[in-house]
Amino acid sequence: CRTSLLKGKKVIVTAGGTREPIDPVRFIGNHSSGRMGFAIAKAAAFAGADVTLVAGSNDHLKTPAGVARRIDVGSTNDMKAAVDSYYDDCDLVIKSAAVADYRSAHPAANKIKKSDETLTLTMAKNPDILYGLGQRKAHQVLIGFAAETTNLIEYGTAKLKKKNLDMLVANDVSAEGAGFQGTTNIATFLFPDGSMEKLEKMDKEDLAAVIVERAAAILAKKNQ
Ligand code: PMT
Repeated sequence: CRTSLLKGKKVIVTAGGTREPIDPVRFIGNHSSGRMGFAIAKAAAFAGADVTLVAGSNDHLKTPAGVARRIDVGSTNDMKAAVDSYYDDCDLVIKSAAVADYRSAHPAANKIKKSDETLTLTMAKNPDILYGLGQRKAHQVLIGFAAETTNLIEYGTAKLKKKNLDMLVANDVSAEGAGFQGTTNIATFLFPDGSMEKLEKMDKEDLAAVIVERAAAILAKKNQ
């Protein structure tokens, strides 16, 4: 049966990876399959929320049942525009997307031809979408992820603080059974009061349900 943990709440979930074009046929991307974010969107919809799913590079994944709207995006700037346009009015953002931090500074209009032995691309820094949301935070609850391969808790804590988050889901993407692509993940939740909750390896669908439960509790506390 459906829960009502997020009934009447407007929730933005980002999923998948962003892609930065190099030329009309090539891009810079990452390994995100979208599984984690789609599972969160599904769990939030199941909990009664009005869910906006902003999805990068996940054309193959079906929109989960109950998700109110899905916006497919390509680049980080596209994702930022979509998220920003729903932000002011929303109650909760869960940002599980793997976002490209850099883009080609000058994407070529036509396919780049093979010529020299090396090819140098100049990269420009992308905006940090979540950091921007943290700066403009009013009533919203903000949950971010941290994908790390070393110093999980230290780097995760720094992101929690810098981005002004209410909770951070840290995952060591180099650990067996965690991170990109697979059906499972291993997460540690970090909170602004310094507390943390270490979870066992679990199915991404089950982890999504726990994230939604914690998000609902933070929202309820904030609205007391
Ligand atoms: O999609 P799957 O294959 O299921 O894999 C799941 C996952 C590994 C992608 C997911 O569990 C995960 O870790 N997502 C976060 C990936 C990431 O970009 O982490 P980060 O540590 O680089 O970024 C920190 C946070 O800031 C993230 O919430 C990210 O969405 C956000 N960010 C980062 C950079 C940027 N320019 N803008 C952002 O908003």
